[in-house]
Amino acid sequence: MRIALAGAGRIGAFHARTLASLGGVGELLLADVDADRAARVAADLGVAAVPTVEGLLDPRVDALVVATSTPGHAPLVRAAVAAGLPVFVEKPLAATLSETVELVRLVEGADVPVHVGFQRRFDTGYRRARAAVASGELGLVHTLRATTSDRRPPHPEYLPTSGGIFRDCSVHDADVVRFVTGREVLTVQAVGGTKGEPFFAAAGDVASAAALLTLDDGTIAVLTTTRYSGQGHDVRLEVVGSEASVAVGLDDSLALRSLEDGVTFPAGPVHEAFMDRFEAAYRAELTAFLDVARGGTPSPCTVRDALEASRVVEAASLALAEGRTVHLSEIPTT
Ligand SMILES: NC(=O)c1ccc[n+]([C@@H]2O[C@H](COP(=O)([O-])OP(=O)(O)OC[C@H]3O[C@@H](n4cnc5c(N)ncnc54)[C@H](O)[C@@H]3O)[C@@H](O)[C@H]2O)c1
Repeated sequence: MRIALAGAGRIGAFHARTLASLGGVGELLLADVDADRAARVAADLGVAAVPTVEGLLDPRVDALVVATSTPGHAPLVRAAVAAGLPVFVEKPLAATLSETVELVRLVEGADVPVHVGFQRRFDTGYRRARAAVASGELGLVHTLRATTSDRRPPHPEYLPTSGGIFRDCSVHDADVVRFVTGREVLTVQAVGGTKGEPFFAAAGDVASAAALLTLDDGTIAVLTTTRYSGQGHDVRLEVVGSEASVAVGLDDSLALRSLEDGVTFPAGPVHEAFMDRFEAAYRAELTAFLDVARGGTPSPCTVRDALEASRVVEAASLALAEGRTVHLSEIPTT
């Protein structure tokens, strides 16, 4: 297949490397608004760069991967849908909720597959958690605890553009709560703290936060996130049921030390960031996208899924800002 990739930054260059190594990709074309960056990444991989992003929307291209910074997502998805080109687009689907809603309407009214990049849906542990819930082996599932902890804060200049900690860090947890349980979120409460460097408060953001969700079958989900997890990048999920409980991310890379006698687990090394934590999942999601683009399977993470995860973090952000319980029904939808 001939695959076009827009955006050659952090995740774009990473996806380019993965795509170049997949058997189904016969040709890979890269473009970035920074044409020199695209040329450098392409040269490193021995693939082609095209001078403009518009050049990627070529009738000979089979599918488009969008890994630009967030404001670039919606215009490229619109252009690809207009050209009938299957699209993989990194999360978030669009920069604002209203733009996301508008795109969902467009994509659901068209016959072009769009796959949104929530890679945890392709992580073995999260898939097993979903299967365990679906099988009934956990009994009555009543509580989920989901964590995304970054090792170090991002650059201060990034913060005002991040959308706040829930939109930036917790959106994957919001998606996995829906993915693993198959349920929808009804209400959200939230707290946040600014312990750490002063630039969090200066940006009107928090450095650590928690959201408490109630789902439509009465399940409780707690999402926690922080920019300060010095021991290592820590992404986990626990699903607690009346008969059994399971954990995702509880392996030797766990960034947590036990204080009990005789415990040698975890043996390390820890994860540094999302790229090494989810390397296999990113590979699996792009492999799945090739099948979607060939028409083999429907999108495994639809624009509707992306909208619902965005609505949950939108509700969490509002709950934090206003110090109250937010009902999902208050958050716009299609
Ligand atoms: N799924 C995940 O785990 C995950 C992880 C990291 C980033 N992301 C998402 O991926 C996207 C990119 O993040 P990043 O960390 O790689 O950012 P980045 O800033 O490192 O790279 C963005 C690149 O996009 C280019 N660009 C900007 N606008 C463009 C446009 N209109 N057309 C073509 N190129 C354009 C920039 O020049 C830059 O090279 C973001 O939307 C982010 O939310 C997802």
